[in-house]
Amino acid sequence: MGNIIIDGGRQLEGEISVQGSKNSSLPILAACVLVDGVSVIHNCPSLTDVDAAIRILRHLGCKVKREGSTLTVDSRNIVNCSIPEELMREMRSSIVFLGSILGRMGKAELSSPGGCDIGLRPIDLHLDALKMLGAEINEKHGFISCRMKRTKGAAISLSFPSVGATENIILASALGVGRTVIHNAAREPEILDLASFLNKAGCRVIVGKQGTVVIEGRRRAFSSEHRVIPDRIVALTYMSAVGAAGGDVLLRNADVSSFLTVLPVFEEAGCNIVPSKNSLRISMNTRPKCVKNIRTMPYPGFPTDAQAPVMAMLSLGYGTSVMVETIFENRFKHVSELSRMGARIKIEGRVAIIEGVESLYGAKVKCTDLRGGGALVVAGLSAKGRTVISNLEHIDRGYENIEENLRKLGAEIERT
Ligand code: EPZ
Repeated sequence: MGNIIIDGGRQLEGEISVQGSKNSSLPILAACVLVDGVSVIHNCPSLTDVDAAIRILRHLGCKVKREGSTLTVDSRNIVNCSIPEELMREMRSSIVFLGSILGRMGKAELSSPGGCDIGLRPIDLHLDALKMLGAEINEKHGFISCRMKRTKGAAISLSFPSVGATENIILASALGVGRTVIHNAAREPEILDLASFLNKAGCRVIVGKQGTVVIEGRRRAFSSEHRVIPDRIVALTYMSAVGAAGGDVLLRNADVSSFLTVLPVFEEAGCNIVPSKNSLRISMNTRPKCVKNIRTMPYPGFPTDAQAPVMAMLSLGYGTSVMVETIFENRFKHVSELSRMGARIKIEGRVAIIEGVESLYGAKVKCTDLRGGGALVVAGLSAKGRTVISNLEHIDRGYENIEENLRKLGAEIERT
């Protein structure tokens, strides 16, 4: 896996293109299981999480071909309804395959996904909703086995707008025989993108404005073609890099409408932002200013996935910033690594108090999780001296070609 080595202190100049969304690609690849045909998915990033999803599709009997960023998935012949433990362990968000296997095959067996670096990641909301759709679910010895006749639909109110639970309900009811209504559904752009893919495949998924999703069951889903939306969290990570290291960068293929509510944070920090329909120009020529109060929230609020990279930028801010992580219970593991680089951050439960310092210093640091890894890259770009980042398997889950992109912008960065 090697290390990423950054000799920090250089401004970032130039333009890069934002990759396709990991968190849209994964549920859409799971949705291919519903299709009795061939799905062509464009703008699929080359990531280890996407590779894991491809391995699951192949295990189920799909033929999957990758040509650049286009994946062709032939799911006419599904021969398996189970996901083996080693594949589930590789990527906990494989739980989203539960809904699509159940919806296509009427039965599914997979191991409990277990927790991860940022929290316990329970799936109670997923399983309770599937039971309301008529699924019989047995959980024992770390395995989940489900049976479900074609669902007649249900009205499901989620106590929390869980992204994965919303996706699983949509996938499990798309080929039902009735109408399913989800109240308090997740409103993330990735949900809209999943609905858009399914509707092109002949399903009927209507995403309302007030967090309501209506799914009219269809007999089958057929071949279609789709382009995955840009990755909003990767865009926000590169923006944090400019905010921390300074410079002037054009982000192409950035869907600005998917992170509008985050722009004020960068403007308050002193960044100059010129958004246009599908690109964004960000420049910064001073030390960031502190941002008094950031609270992570379900969409359209400040995204929890941007908390770590933005924190890295604010660790250089004039004054003290405060970030409250309301979504995950253990999502500050990157703080100890940032502190090794000279950041002054105190944690009180779910509150991080970031006392800005004039500069960070290069150090040997380890990625603790995916977005924590993004934060260390952001910090290394602005730090004085050399930063060596290890445990890159976390970064490779969600950031495609991160060192090539940053090198294109003038950063002194390489992977050993
Ligand atoms: C998705 O995870 C994303 N992953 C996460 O991105 C993202 O952080 C998260 O949504 C929130 O936006 C993918 O899309 C693959 P949730 P998911 O269900 O679906 C609790 C990244 O960095 N909860 O909305 O697992 C849960 O514990 C990753 O790309 C239950 O209690 O998120 C958490 O506190 C990290 N019971 C909160 O809800 C459940 O049954 C949000 O979880 C499900 C969730």
